[in-house]
Amino acid sequence: MSDSRTVPAGAYEVRIGTGVLETAGAILASRADPGPVLLVTDENVGPLYLDRVRESVRAADFRPEALVLPAGERLKTLENVRRVYDRLLSVGADRGTPVVALGGGTVGDLAGFAAATWMRGIPWICLPTTLLAQVDASVGGKTAVNYREGKNLVGVFHEPSAVAADLETLRTLPEREFLSGFSEVLKTALALDPELFISIESDPGGVATPEGRRIPDTVVACVRAKVRVVGADLREAGRRRVLNFGHTVGHALEAAAGYGGVLHGEAVAVGMMAAVRLSVKRTGLAPEWEARLAGLLRALGLPVEREDLAVVPEREAVARHLARDKKIRGGRIAMVLLEAPGRPRIVTDVPAVQVLEAVYPP
Ligand SMILES: NC(=O)c1ccc[n+]([C@@H]2O[C@H](COP(=O)([O-])OP(=O)(O)OC[C@H]3O[C@@H](n4cnc5c(N)ncnc54)[C@H](O)[C@@H]3O)[C@@H](O)[C@H]2O)c1
Ligand SMILES: [Zn+2]
Repeated sequence: MSDSRTVPAGAYEVRIGTGVLETAGAILASRADPGPVLLVTDENVGPLYLDRVRESVRAADFRPEALVLPAGERLKTLENVRRVYDRLLSVGADRGTPVVALGGGTVGDLAGFAAATWMRGIPWICLPTTLLAQVDASVGGKTAVNYREGKNLVGVFHEPSAVAADLETLRTLPEREFLSGFSEVLKTALALDPELFISIESDPGGVATPEGRRIPDTVVACVRAKVRVVGADLREAGRRRVLNFGHTVGHALEAAAGYGGVLHGEAVAVGMMAAVRLSVKRTGLAPEWEARLAGLLRALGLPVEREDLAVVPEREAVARHLARDKKIRGGRIAMVLLEAPGRPRIVTDVPAVQVLEAVYPP
């Protein structure tokens, strides 16, 4: 039984709820003609959920073929894109053959990229199974793989034909991954939806676990907020950049700690604290927000300061990574600050030293 809500996202819909994986076949049937379907997943998600999706797809008269790839960021390679192409060839895919991405943001980015580039673009359906992917990565049509040392260097925009986020899948997610994803929820709330922040603050227990009673509303609110900004800025020319709140420092911490030692959302949590401090100095954010964000991060079990990270990066390493930031000019960094929660502003001249001092006070 599926119990779900849908959020319209321009040309497609995001379905959010429980039992939603079992509707994969029906979703396909409304968007493609019967034939082969390539299901792409990873070695952690496959054993848990592939059968459910396969059954549903088969029941809708499609012929499911599965490709199970190694899990984690290392999945996002051109080599694995070739593996998707090879399978598409071997199943006799044509321009209408759909690809289904079942997994976290890595699977979505890879399968979406392969679908975007095969025959100049075939349809794909996204079944996100991590909190990060459900509230963030699955919406907006960005797809990419990594190239050599660089993250997401090769990519295109290619919106899925549908997104179906099954909240039940969050129950098997390692706790640390769940919390890390929650950091993106707080990012969305602070940058775009202050009411969401306040509702979480009033009942952190309601979101601290996948079974939490506020999880469905929270995921729906994040998707709605992301659809709003993305819809206004499909190609990331302007407004969409506000979704990088907390990410300038977050990316530098993540890279300086060595990818994997610190999870993305954990680094972003500390990055949001830095961005809030800078916002109090530069854009008039009320000082109380520093304590409110810290309090909520602590209540949820997310890091607040750099010392809370599993691997504490060296100041010099963070400085080096900040200096490489794409948005830096003449020692000044463009970053998203807040005038108030829900009122983000892109400030283009924050001195790199000031950014560093927000994490490593002198
Ligand atoms: N396209 C975008 O707009 C966008 C936005 C944000 C992030 N991303 C990308 O998303 C990726 C990160 O995504 P992620 O955090 O979902 O990572 P991930 O896909 O690596 O998933 C995290 C881990 O959880 C496992 N897993 C996934 N679902 C599970 C489940 N339900 N139960 C048990 N285990 C499960 C995975 O196998 C993996 O080991 C990055 O590559 C990032 O660049 C893309
Ligand atoms: Zn992020």
